[in-house]
Amino acid sequence: MSEPKLMDVCALGDLALESVRKVEASGQDIALVRCEEGVFAIGNRCSHAEVELSEGEVEGCALECWLHGSQFDLRTGMPLSPPAVQPVPTFTVVIEGEGDAARVLVDPTPQLINQ
Ligand code: FES
Repeated sequence: MSEPKLMDVCALGDLALESVRKVEASGQDIALVRCEEGVFAIGNRCSHAEVELSEGEVEGCALECWLHGSQFDLRTGMPLSPPAVQPVPTFTVVIEGEGDAARVLVDPTPQLINQ
């Protein structure tokens, strides 16, 4: 297995708790989310109608699409509520360092859960 290629996308301090921001890593459009459980990265395109999930709201450990309200589990990319039925990809996140200066690293290899 090849080593994951980690990309530095931002400082942890740039990502407030319960917030989402859009980042790009190796051409992948990613919604980066910080919630109580940690920092997660999922594909930024809703699997229902292709709008940007980074414009949505963080709800616990899920990201809610602003257009029709589907929530996606940040750990798996699976939709938790309709109308979306397909998962979005997830990306591995590694935090390097301590405190707000810690760096958020993302492996831009998309991982898609099998249905
Ligand atoms: S576009 Fe996201 S739920 Fe419809």
